[in-house]
Amino acid sequence: MVTVPSSCTALSCPTVLIILPWLFLFVLRHIDTAKCYGCEEALGKAVVDSGVPREELWLTNKLWPGDYLNLALRLIYLEVELHPFQQPLELVEYCRKENIVFEGYCPLAKGQVLTHPSIMELTEKYSHSESQICIRWSIQNGVVTIPTSTKPERVHENCQVSGFPLTAEDLDRISGLHTSQKLIHLTYPIWKG
Ligand SMILES: NC(=O)c1ccc[n+]([C@@H]2O[C@H](COP(=O)([O-])OP(=O)(O)OC[C@H]3O[C@@H](n4cnc5c(N)ncnc54)[C@H](OP(=O)(O)O)[C@@H]3O)[C@@H](O)[C@H]2O)c1
Repeated sequence: MVTVPSSCTALSCPTVLIILPWLFLFVLRHIDTAKCYGCEEALGKAVVDSGVPREELWLTNKLWPGDYLNLALRLIYLEVELHPFQQPLELVEYCRKENIVFEGYCPLAKGQVLTHPSIMELTEKYSHSESQICIRWSIQNGVVTIPTSTKPERVHENCQVSGFPLTAEDLDRISGLHTSQKLIHLTYPIWKG
């Protein structure tokens, strides 16, 4: 089993890229990227400029239909949509059994979950933001999670997610928000959900 930092950010935004070396130094250890985000070169430079040893970082990239490779390593990592409104639990369980790291994308439902009353109510109890509560919910469910923001201060906020464990009751309450609402419709779905 590989060890993956449990939360991270994805990037495509110039403002975040400018301060990325700073974020790397203080909080960020996991970046999700793709050729189509158009930032691979800037990301490479930010990694070098940060001075953080490369072995301390976890970077993921993607294969797309039509990519031509001579070798693809065995599947140890799977990126699928997961947030309180969309929980592919059967697939999460399969990955757990097969020692495949499950990474949930769109963990904030593209921001939509942040205005749900059940999430908003929990902010007072835990003294953390809606976004931080959703990220913790993913992490406590054993899912690696990759929230994105175009705002550096939110990237930083989204990394501050330790030290406030959600109770089992609150985890269940958030899990109860599942409505099968999918935000990303792939033309090549990798599973039936
Ligand atoms: N493999 C795939 O097919 C696939 C598909 C989709 C996504 N992904 C990955 O998943 C990443 C995240 O997905 P996503 O960007 O679609 O959705 P997301 O992370 O669920 O939500 C991003 C939205 O939440 C807002 N937000 C973030 N942090 C916030 C905070 N602390 N407070 C308030 N609002 C906040 C952002 O607004 P602001 O920018 O205004 O802060 C943005 O509108 C992507 O960047 C990508 O790496 C992968």
